[in-house]
Amino acid sequence: MQIFDGLAPAPTNFFMTLRDIAYWVRSARADARLARFRQGEQSLSPFDHLYADTHDPFGVELPQYRYQQRKYACLLSMLPQRRYRNILDVGCGLGTFTRKLAPYGDRVLGTDISGEAISQAAKMSAAHPNLSYAQRDMLDAAPSESAFDLIIVADTLYYMNSRTPAALKSLAATIASKLTPDGLVLIANHYFFGVDAASRETREIHDAFRWASGLDCVAEFRRAFFLATLLRRTAH
Ligand SMILES: C[S@@+](CC[C@H](N)C(=O)[O-])C[C@H]1O[C@@H](n2cnc3c(N)ncnc32)[C@H](O)[C@@H]1O
Repeated sequence: MQIFDGLAPAPTNFFMTLRDIAYWVRSARADARLARFRQGEQSLSPFDHLYADTHDPFGVELPQYRYQQRKYACLLSMLPQRRYRNILDVGCGLGTFTRKLAPYGDRVLGTDISGEAISQAAKMSAAHPNLSYAQRDMLDAAPSESAFDLIIVADTLYYMNSRTPAALKSLAATIASKLTPDGLVLIANHYFFGVDAASRETREIHDAFRWASGLDCVAEFRRAFFLATLLRRTAH
């Protein structure tokens, strides 16, 4: 496995502050509301309900939560320094990371299951002419579009309804099929050194991608408090 000089320098100092505890509480509350919306009979889909109910339910845009901003900087630092032609950000939410990718790609597409999130992301991205957004479930077959040389899936995979190893491997293979021959995928999810149930689930998700057909693991990064795995499309 290799470590790259990434697109941006990695933050060097410890990047949690006491205030960031409120960030975790906010995320946990968003997940609890989502669980309630999933149970009730609603006219809106659960994620649309969540984004319509609260602007920025996960607090990803709020500058007082340094953890999330530094996590985005860390993720950028893991990407090989090169110019990307076509980038896809799956489960982009409000497009917070999508906008950070804008300087590094000719075109960047953000997709999310929530039309509400997509419409807010598009409004917040008006200053970036190379960004576009589309409402789409990550499992849906994409309409005919060019292959991507970089795909990001950050903090999204644990919202899949079925996370069996077979379902995850099938999704990984679908994602691999959208890559250019030298294309890369970066997946990132919560990780606290395997001590909690969510971390163990993250390990299973990342392992399913590592062993999926069509992808080779290039590098794995364990950080406080997330795991990121960089994969490349298998050469034929
Ligand atoms: C915690 S947010 C992460 C947003 C963004 N990736 C980031 O790191 O800032 C999870 C996002 O995944 C989206 N999502 C959940 N299930 C999805 C699915 N099946 N297909 C596409 N997006 C999905 C949600 O709507 C939500 O915006």
